[in-house]
Amino acid sequence: MPIPSKAIAIAHPNIAFIKYWGNRDDSLRLPSNASISMNLDGLETRTSVEFVQSLEADELILNGAAAVGPALDRVVQFLAMVRRIAGIKTFARVESSSNFPVGVGLASSASAFAALALAAVKAAGLALSELELSRLARRGSGSACRSVPGGFVEWEAGRGDGDSLAHSIAPPDHWDLVDCIALISSEHKTTGSTQGNRLAGSSPLQSARVADAPRRLQLCRTAILERDMDGLAKIAELDSNLLHAVMMTSDPPLYYWQPATLAVMQFVRSLRQNGLLVFSTVDAGPNVHVITRQGEAGRVAGMLRGFPGVQDVLVASVGGPAKLID
Ligand code: PMV
Repeated sequence: MPIPSKAIAIAHPNIAFIKYWGNRDDSLRLPSNASISMNLDGLETRTSVEFVQSLEADELILNGAAAVGPALDRVVQFLAMVRRIAGIKTFARVESSSNFPVGVGLASSASAFAALALAAVKAAGLALSELELSRLARRGSGSACRSVPGGFVEWEAGRGDGDSLAHSIAPPDHWDLVDCIALISSEHKTTGSTQGNRLAGSSPLQSARVADAPRRLQLCRTAILERDMDGLAKIAELDSNLLHAVMMTSDPPLYYWQPATLAVMQFVRSLRQNGLLVFSTVDAGPNVHVITRQGEAGRVAGMLRGFPGVQDVLVASVGGPAKLID
């Protein structure tokens, strides 16, 4: 077994302004369209991977408890890929924990697979570039490829497995955006994004969403590079609504919004109409990501905390890349 056989990595989740939904190839996680996101500082998954000669199978401890079933299977499949690349047969012990609440509909698979990819590759003795690592993380969870580079990140759809990967378009200090995440309770267990992605093609609206994606990506990229809050607000809210229109019209339909989700979205819109630089975007869950500038974040978070249906508010500025820790 190569040295070192153990490594620890941390990665941040990300919030997409132009969303990924639907695959050209489900098993390779080749997306139907490119996407753009921002990493979330302060929220992180920390993962250690140790290849141990005496193990007879891979082991996974997730947030302090031994994982079994689909969560373990997904990690085992990912490690098998790393073993194939490294030419090793040793099983691994993986311990992973996130510092943000789990089970509240906040996708943790992006930070989880970005951290797992980095730690597993290092522990297996492989030297991969950031782009190669991003491409590998994509196989664990699509949006994980965007948590490998830092700051504002674009995932190119690519022509195939070789070039579907993410790169940074601007570093974290490029723009002082803050995500105030309004946590809204969901009494129903939601459909996970892997399963949801498979349903995208069943919506008659998905082809229109995908066909218009290059235009939205261009507007989003330009708004970020020019630090144009109005431009970003407009395109990100449109993109989020297109995503949910596809979800609600797929077969079976997916309703991720709760009544409070829509109420917060409308509140954010009214704040913007009254001159506050703020907009909202929603992923595959009921929580509303409310994006604003650093100077307004305290005020925005305070208003959201008092809003009916909002259980808590997490505040995250722009995060860096996945990184190894000693
Ligand atoms: O990477 P996944 O399978 O967790 O899918 C992420 C899908 C969305 O969060 C809804 C959109 C996105 O681009 O992050």
